[in-house]
Amino acid sequence: MKNDPRKHFSALQIIHKILREHVQPGDICIDATAGRGKDTLFLAELVGETGHVTAFDIQEAAVESTRALLAEHGMTDRAEAVLDSHAHMAQYAQPGTVSAITFNFGWLPGGDHNVFTRPESSIAAIEAGLELLRDEGIMTLILYYGRETGFEERDALLAYLPTIDSDRYTVIEMPFVNRPNCPPIPIVILKG
Ligand SMILES: C[S@@+](CC[C@H](N)C(=O)[O-])C[C@H]1O[C@@H](n2cnc3c(N)ncnc32)[C@H](O)[C@@H]1O
Repeated sequence: MKNDPRKHFSALQIIHKILREHVQPGDICIDATAGRGKDTLFLAELVGETGHVTAFDIQEAAVESTRALLAEHGMTDRAEAVLDSHAHMAQYAQPGTVSAITFNFGWLPGGDHNVFTRPESSIAAIEAGLELLRDEGIMTLILYYGRETGFEERDALLAYLPTIDSDRYTVIEMPFVNRPNCPPIPIVILKG
């Protein structure tokens, strides 16, 4: 009998498992792609009342959805959604202070499939984020490709990641090797 695909681990579940190990109460985190706010809420729960999460999105609909989700869960004191590109995240945090930064590339779930993350701003944002991470901080990426987004962002990011300074960062790609149909690629970057 074929496995029920709903029981398969998703890239998001794998990344959340890793983030759960890393993020502590009181931490500062960034959700670089707010979307509907699920990762922002997840991080807000992990950082607790004393931590802070800043989430970015370039679409008003995403920022509104994220703010509504945070309000619904009583998290507006510890998490905020800003209408700005993640490429500008260095304007919102001090270098060496951020415990975790998440990127979930692609388009807004249930939104306009013509608006999606682009390699130039994604790479600029990763570079900015690497400087914001504290020692032993973590950056996670989930890379989607195929369908409307094509392969340009995947190819650009997979070419860029090996150029990250190996003296300062550990970069791990974890592609699914037995899953069909362009499965997303989870990636982890550790500062150290
Ligand atoms: C796959 S969705 C994120 C899903 C989200 N993590 C959630 O829980 O719903 C990707 C999001 O990235 C946003 N995005 C695209 N380019 C961006 C940029 N330069 N800066 C910030 N967000 C961007 C899109 O508008 C979209 O909402």
